[in-house]
Amino acid sequence: MSGGEVELVDLVKRFAEVTAVDGITLNIPGGEFFSLLGPSGCGKTTTLRLIAGFEQPTEGKILLDGQDMAQTPPHRRNVNTVFQNYALFPFLNVQENVSFGLRYKDLPKQEVKRRVGDALALVRLEGMGKRRPSQLSGGQQQRVALARALVLNPAVLLLDEPLGALDAKLRKALQIELKALQETVGITFIYVTHDQEEALTMSDRMAVMSNGHVEQVGSPSEVYEEPANAYVADFLGASNLMPARADGRGADGRCRVRLGEFELAAARGHVDSRGDVKITIRPERVQLEDYGTPGENRLPGMVQRVVYVGSTVQLIVNLAPGQTVQASMQNQGGTLGFDQGTPVGVFLPPDALRVLASEDSDLHGNFSNRGATGSLAAGESTVPEVADGHGQERRHEHDRGQGVEGRRR
Ligand SMILES: Nc1ncnc2c1ncn2[C@@H]1O[C@H](COP(=O)(O)OP(=O)(O)OP(=O)(O)O)[C@@H](O)[C@H]1O
Ligand SMILES: [Mg+2]
Repeated sequence: MSGGEVELVDLVKRFAEVTAVDGITLNIPGGEFFSLLGPSGCGKTTTLRLIAGFEQPTEGKILLDGQDMAQTPPHRRNVNTVFQNYALFPFLNVQENVSFGLRYKDLPKQEVKRRVGDALALVRLEGMGKRRPSQLSGGQQQRVALARALVLNPAVLLLDEPLGALDAKLRKALQIELKALQETVGITFIYVTHDQEEALTMSDRMAVMSNGHVEQVGSPSEVYEEPANAYVADFLGASNLMPARADGRGADGRCRVRLGEFELAAARGHVDSRGDVKITIRPERVQLEDYGTPGENRLPGMVQRVVYVGSTVQLIVNLAPGQTVQASMQNQGGTLGFDQGTPVGVFLPPDALRVLASEDSDLHGNFSNRGATGSLAAGESTVPEVADGHGQERRHEHDRGQGVEGRRR
């Protein structure tokens, strides 16, 4: 299928006193799996509802395949939505639910039957056409909702946290299935989630949102490896964020930063910065060594806590300058040798240490309440949960769903 290009131009949506969408510009080419990722209340659903036509923009434009949608009502847009709660009709069976949207299309009976059959095959629900929603599992109901949206052959499918109601294991299975399905049908998916791992696993590209703004757009590896600011770094999994003073770029091209009385070299990010900055490093890049190991970018520390999470072990380490870092180590079996209370050397490799300019560190006031080391500072939110055996872990976060750590691409 061709088409399915979505453009949002300076899109604004204000409700009485709330600005839900505050100037979003995005260009999503046809056939892309694009995710909107952000915490609760950042404007994800509103953005989808604007694209679907259920809401009118206060300002800005929406174009579908180059055409301005301002005058186009929802049912004339070649767009369909899958909602979190599926919204199936309880008294209709699966087939009837799926064919519901075709009823005004004036299609021959045989054609309707064929399309419903194809849609059910696509979501692997053959043979279940006669069941009522109440006779299906959550995952199966979710697939009916998908089939019902796909049967209309939209150029763009909007999905609002479609896996939100499912348990973690089923969610994982359906993530992979949904991505494969999107590749099969080749239409544009705009996928809303507050789950970092979900967005990273499934998307071709993603927008990280906060407070009605887009903070960064990029491929999963771009936003994870090259976060534009502290907000993105922190939102995409545990990131160690430490306030530091930068002294500009040295002859070797790296930024000199001071953490307490320790001088470090940081090779990534705003290496020209001077003055107050934040430095950040992913937990999987922090290396622990024997106490006193000499060399650059080494700090003394003390293991504060060891959290066993199956495929990895998370260590919370107090650094001599007063900060706390989280280190994530693969579980190779055997003992780690870094028990609680052990003095250690902490190596922050320069090529893993990123300087975030201070103006990037506190965008829209979102970050200020997270503390210098993000959720780590709170202590109780760091107990991760293993999601699979490939070095990916998830952690619980009271306010923002799950995080992903240890992800390499
Ligand atoms: N109809 C409305 N009237 C007034 N305010 C609204 C309306 N719809 C949404 N809002 C507000 O707009 C903001 C964005 O809401 P939205 O539903 O888009 O967030 P979201 O990112 O989808 O959040 P969640 O992850 O919780 O679903 C919120 O502050 C919300 O309270
Ligand atoms: Mg929502």
